[in-house]
Amino acid sequence: MGIRVQELRQHRSPKLRRMLVLGIESSCDETGVALVEARGTAVPVLLADALHSQIEMHQAYGGVVPELASRDHIRRVLPLSEKVLSEGSRPLADVDVVAYTRGPGLAGALLVGAGVACALGAALGKPVLGVHHLEGHLLSPFLSADPPAFPFVALLVSGGHTQLMRVDGVGSYELLGETIDDAAGEAFDKSAKLMGLGYPGGPALSRLAEQGDGAAFKLPRPLLHSGNLDFSFAGLKTAVLVQAGKLGAALEARKADLAASTQAAIVEVLVKKSLAALQATGLERLVVAGGVGANRLLRAELNAACDRRGVRVHYPELALCTDNGAMIAMAAAMRLQAGVQSATRSYAFDVKPRWPLAALSQA
Ligand code: KG4
Ligand code: ZN
Repeated sequence: MGIRVQELRQHRSPKLRRMLVLGIESSCDETGVALVEARGTAVPVLLADALHSQIEMHQAYGGVVPELASRDHIRRVLPLSEKVLSEGSRPLADVDVVAYTRGPGLAGALLVGAGVACALGAALGKPVLGVHHLEGHLLSPFLSADPPAFPFVALLVSGGHTQLMRVDGVGSYELLGETIDDAAGEAFDKSAKLMGLGYPGGPALSRLAEQGDGAAFKLPRPLLHSGNLDFSFAGLKTAVLVQAGKLGAALEARKADLAASTQAAIVEVLVKKSLAALQATGLERLVVAGGVGANRLLRAELNAACDRRGVRVHYPELALCTDNGAMIAMAAAMRLQAGVQSATRSYAFDVKPRWPLAALSQA
């Protein structure tokens, strides 16, 4: 049991002092470290950001190997921390809070970031704060040049999650709908794997889709007319498998068409359900976050549909759609600014491999 010596809690006050947050992300196959500065109640600013992607290492296995991921995070996290401190021109001693991803994610991988963050905090005598990975994604558009304003509907589309949330403020998240089986990113990844496109499938499939016809094959749009805001993508990969089987030797020549048709099916469902969520809540702002938010067709279709309805859409910068340390430092800074959480000098940490985002609102 750690001893809580002192807590750092930032209240909404224009006199709030400057706060430097070091953020560490290690939930899956990217080690990300970033330095964010918060001044008063202004939107925190990103000073430096460094990332090491393990994609190349996992490619040989066709997916993430958790044990290898953890070991690589161990190798990368301190050199990346040194890099951001040097790029941000701040000595380690200036860091006020060390933030880390507490979950959800791979347990071993999370433990690396949590362990290093708490060790740094203990060595510096500075408080630490565990962040929800999806809250990081959700708040990542605040790092863009055009940050959103609350309230908004958020479409969270990552490798492991597909959710629509109503967001009324930092820490105030209401789940409107989510996938009942595979996530949108998983649908991209699994379909790409079936087509022999390698890992990670999303970017590879969407690149190939640019040369194909999205209307070439009729693939299912599950739960499109379900009347609720849930998603289901598991049937799509089966339909892709069946279609690939039917094509047989012709698959190679029609792969771009199959990729484009798969992408069109996923994107149509995401766009229609997002619009339904906007309609159900009466809100006029949409925030898209998570790796699939980098998809060009999704962005184009959402922009067009929202334009027609006078709805503003906000995205993170393309480089900050997939996992990174900036979103973790940012979420920590915003939680402290909003006064919804305290950073603590208790260094006994745990991680939460499974952790629903809506649980944050009940905390
Ligand atoms: O948010 P993220 O980096 O990691 C998780 O928290 O899961 O999302 C990764 C997911 C993967 O499924 C990847 O294939 C997908 O995002 N992705 C894309 C694109 N870029 C990444 N999917 C479709 N189109 C893209 N351009
Ligand atoms: Zn993520």
